[in-house]
Amino acid sequence: MTQLTISSIETLYYDRIYALHGLSLQVREKEIFAVLGPNGAGKTTLLKTISGLLKDQPKKGTIEFSGKRIERLAPERISRLGIVFVPEDRGLFHELTVQENLDLGCWGRKDHQIQTDYEFIYQLFPILKERTQQMVETLSGGEQQMLALARAMLRRPKLLLLDEPSLGLAPMIARQVYDALSQICRAGTTILMVEQNAKLALSIAHYSYIMESGRIVLEGTAQKLHDHKDVQLFYLGMEQETAPAKGWRLYKKRRTW
Ligand SMILES: Nc1ncnc2c1ncn2[C@@H]1O[C@H](COP(=O)(O)OP(=O)(O)O)[C@@H](O)[C@H]1O
Ligand SMILES: [Mg+2]
Repeated sequence: MTQLTISSIETLYYDRIYALHGLSLQVREKEIFAVLGPNGAGKTTLLKTISGLLKDQPKKGTIEFSGKRIERLAPERISRLGIVFVPEDRGLFHELTVQENLDLGCWGRKDHQIQTDYEFIYQLFPILKERTQQMVETLSGGEQQMLALARAMLRRPKLLLLDEPSLGLAPMIARQVYDALSQICRAGTTILMVEQNAKLALSIAHYSYIMESGRIVLEGTAQKLHDHKDVQLFYLGMEQETAPAKGWRLYKKRRTW
């Protein structure tokens, strides 16, 4: 079932620079959706627009979450609906301990499932349990990303928005984080992430969009995009098997979208 429907949104900076230019996409419940695209494509702007962090944006278009229009609502209202955003800088409190950051994730909760949720996050990221009294600034990049995800999960999100979860992480650690994302999804949380690391993202995503200059230029199942010649060339860094007739030097490869 569709959980999030974005229709022709336009987000501008300073009222004149289009960061999102008629962007539409849909996210199905309990699946992993990845938006891939180069630096400056508008990926972060997209997540901030959904979260309501850009005041009075989107200027045009609609965003519907579980049948409710949410565009231009205040960020607190959007997060109360179950949309939790983990920003690229992870948004942690560096001078607080791991435990204190996690406690903040539970802020405002009055239910009795907090214990169960702690068990889930410690099972996902056992290392955090050993680090509870440690100050966040002393954690490695990978541990900080794990903590950011753990804290987000304590808010019981229906939809998790992730900005470049693999950024700055060593390949092995990024893999570990990604495996945890698969588990989070299997446990019932929808994930919409934006990534520059197409290979990693396509390894777990069910469906993916490619975004360039504020628009979606291509979409499909992870398999379809993985097999797409131009995606391979521009996003996966794979060599093409056959050289064009004129030879590489004279050949200027054009994207087909
Ligand atoms: N706060 C801002 N003020 C003005 N322009 C911005 C701001 N944030 C991003 N932009 C511009 O919007 C475009 C999209 O940026 P961004 O969403 O950060 O892309 P990505 O996350 O894909 O790298 C870029 O051209 C960027 O320079
Ligand atoms: Mg970005």
